[in-house]
Amino acid sequence: MYSSAPGPIGVFDSGYGGLTILKEIRKALPDYDYIYLGDNARTPYGTRSFDVVYEFTLQAVKKLFERGCRMVILACNTASAKALRSIQQKDLPLLDPERRVLGVVIPTVEAIDKITKNGNIGVLGTQGTVSSGTYDIEIAKFFPRFRTVSQACPMWVPLVENCEYDKPGADYFVRKNVEVLFAEEPDIDTIILGCTHYPLMLPKIREAVGGRAEIVCQGPLVAASLSNYLERHPEMAERCTRGGTVEYLTTENPDRFAAAAANFVDGPVEAKRVEL
Ligand code: DGL
Repeated sequence: MYSSAPGPIGVFDSGYGGLTILKEIRKALPDYDYIYLGDNARTPYGTRSFDVVYEFTLQAVKKLFERGCRMVILACNTASAKALRSIQQKDLPLLDPERRVLGVVIPTVEAIDKITKNGNIGVLGTQGTVSSGTYDIEIAKFFPRFRTVSQACPMWVPLVENCEYDKPGADYFVRKNVEVLFAEEPDIDTIILGCTHYPLMLPKIREAVGGRAEIVCQGPLVAASLSNYLERHPEMAERCTRGGTVEYLTTENPDRFAAAAANFVDGPVEAKRVEL
């Protein structure tokens, strides 16, 4: 059904957040070609039900497969938490067992034992990611002695999507959510930014945390994990083209996407609109 020719690596997010992951992936693996797809018309995913996030994510994955991607990274924690497992186990075997869909939660969790000293981990994420319990479950699997506390930050994605993330109004929401997290476990020494939009708010998060904990951005961890994956799977590396290009696709207005994406990536962005 899909072309078996080598193709670009697909990177998907509900909106702009995945660009923070793409940026780091391109730093680590600059020779590959990429297609970024943002479902900006239907963002945020964080407040949507399991079924809807799964349905939207599967549509996006199929679109990227149609565009020739042999491998897709869900650069979205909400989609990784709510849709990845079903897509890997149920859909991929039917769609094309030789294609791969990978997420951002496991590469993050795998790395935290090298960061934390006391095993008290805080997770900041969307309502969907936090209520799925994915981080608690995966951290407990990898590191049974660690303690995980999570806090949903429902206002943060809209602040980023509306380019208000660095404005004074954002301070209130950042401080509020960070303080609730510390109130639950004052001894946290590591905070995972479990939403790919949040690195844009890093200066404000740093200010609110004030040195009480290390703040973990996922981009470099996901990029290292993907490099490692491609080294371990040369057959998959061969299915990915290398020309150093990026194509940007959005379900919203492409000019709006291009203007906002300039906050996330260096250099000009030209986007095309697609329907999912
Ligand atoms: N970037 C997505 C994530 O990592 C944000 C989700 C949203 O659309 O709410 O979870």
